[in-house]
Amino acid sequence: MHLDAEFLVIGSGIAGLRAAFSLAERGDVIMLTKADPRESNTGYAQGGIAAAIGPDDSPALHARDTMAAGDGLCAAEAVDVLVREGPRYVRELIEWGAAFDREASGQPALGREAAHSVRRVLHAKDATGREIARLLGSRVSGRPRVRVMDDAMAVDLTVDSGTCSGATFVTAAGVQGAVTARQTLLATGGAGQVFRDTTNPAGATGDGIAIAARAGARVMDLEFVQFHPTVLNVEGAPRFLLSEALRGEGGRLINDAGEAFMERYEPAGDLASRDLVARAMFREVQRTGAPVYLTMAHLDAGFVRTRFPTISRACANAGLDLARDRIPVSPAAHYLMGGVTTDLDGRTSLPGLFAAGEVACTGVHGANRLASNSLLEGLVFGARASAAMQGAPKAARLAGIDVDDAAWPARGTESTPSASDVRDLMWRAVGLVRARGPLHEAVERLAAWVGAVAAARQTGACDPELRRLANLATVGWLIARAALRREESRGAHFRSDFPSRDDLHWKKHIADRIRPA
Ligand code: FAD
Ligand code: SIN
Repeated sequence: MHLDAEFLVIGSGIAGLRAAFSLAERGDVIMLTKADPRESNTGYAQGGIAAAIGPDDSPALHARDTMAAGDGLCAAEAVDVLVREGPRYVRELIEWGAAFDREASGQPALGREAAHSVRRVLHAKDATGREIARLLGSRVSGRPRVRVMDDAMAVDLTVDSGTCSGATFVTAAGVQGAVTARQTLLATGGAGQVFRDTTNPAGATGDGIAIAARAGARVMDLEFVQFHPTVLNVEGAPRFLLSEALRGEGGRLINDAGEAFMERYEPAGDLASRDLVARAMFREVQRTGAPVYLTMAHLDAGFVRTRFPTISRACANAGLDLARDRIPVSPAAHYLMGGVTTDLDGRTSLPGLFAAGEVACTGVHGANRLASNSLLEGLVFGARASAAMQGAPKAARLAGIDVDDAAWPARGTESTPSASDVRDLMWRAVGLVRARGPLHEAVERLAAWVGAVAAARQTGACDPELRRLANLATVGWLIARAALRREESRGAHFRSDFPSRDDLHWKKHIADRIRPA
């Protein structure tokens, strides 16, 4: 099957949908999405979308909080774009009918989340992403020039004379095809599935990063993986996210003896940034040898159940009452700050290829993302990319970023791993606390696996599981390499052998460009 369009959008989360909506004014758009179009990280977002719209807020204050969470590594121009343009795009969602919760006055109700100095998170109870995906999905399906192809997984980019000219894909029924397009947008979301424990749904396998790296585009900051501190930890139950908004509304972390412990580790206590809370929990578990819990039991039970219906249901399914019981929690991989390197308009280092949303890296989140800035990023940079895609294909100018050129692992003869092999190794060696020895072994092992999977793909035995594995192993390898290289601790990247932040040597973004095997 061969298709032509002016624009190709890969992915149907907030970034892809917002971009497709605008692109359809300028040309025919094909949107490839590898599952049901409603299936994305966006659809699972709970806490909400941050925007400086409150009377006590300003873009400057939002920028300050974003930069503080990013631990010295946020790209200031990208932050400026996010916080200044964010309110406009969020108001657009409201005009289009987003059912955000409201105050009695009719103004949007603003929630509090960790490391935000004021209330600035718009939300639709605890299922904000579902509402935004519904709204944007309906806007896009009303556009006759957008053809959405569901169950169509992008496999690789096509590159002609150094310019991206579209992508190959395969459908769930096994039909292979290609789309030729003047401009292509990667909006494929995150990579939580690279780790054993994650909040991300099954599709978050980092495909866009692997696809871009295979085509020679630069990827950067991949060592910065955010581990969300409060994820349901009940044997046999899904690792369901317990939104930071729970602590924003007064929830507390307690140890097995019932003591609130966060103030002992961090002055901001339960509302310290995610990286700090996750590591404090790790240390408390080590100190006590017992689990830690989230409790809402001191708050009004009616309020808790009404404000957090989805989370209440997930806890009930695990036999727990969110409003009354202490809920066992532990960290899980949640968000990737790094991604495909882009400029402020989503251009990558490969002409004709754009990226926006979680797959992209403008540097806006630095070393650790502020809560609820990700939906905002997808909205703002998805819209900006769509505007830039109307021009001629050209590469981003990416000055001031160190580049590490490396070779792809050679094709090998060893047997291919299972997805669990990759995910277990990443969790053990490239997780919340990292050190040279385990990282070095992980890089070697993952490189061998990337080579083994590439060899298996070459034989033509390319079933869907092998494609998924190729992407998981590649992204795992790239993350492990970056984590081994950065010999300091900053934001979400913690090295027990280099426990301090080292601005002298490491206050910089590092991009990888992998030469073809
Ligand atoms: P996604 O929404 O993940 O969409 C990616 C799309 O690409 C999907 O449609 C997927 O099927 C498709 N795709 C992937 N690979 C391929 C391929 N090879 N071919 C074709 N299609 C492909 N952020 C916030 O700001 N606020 C929150 O409250 C919040 N809560 C969260 C709660 C959870 C449980 C999770 C997991 C994340 C949360 N986040 C939150 C993060 C946020 O949801 C994501 O970062 C954001 O939605 C990413 O949007 P996106 O458009 O970049 O990608
Ligand atoms: C949450 O609701 O805690 C997740 C918010 C986010 O990832 O920004």
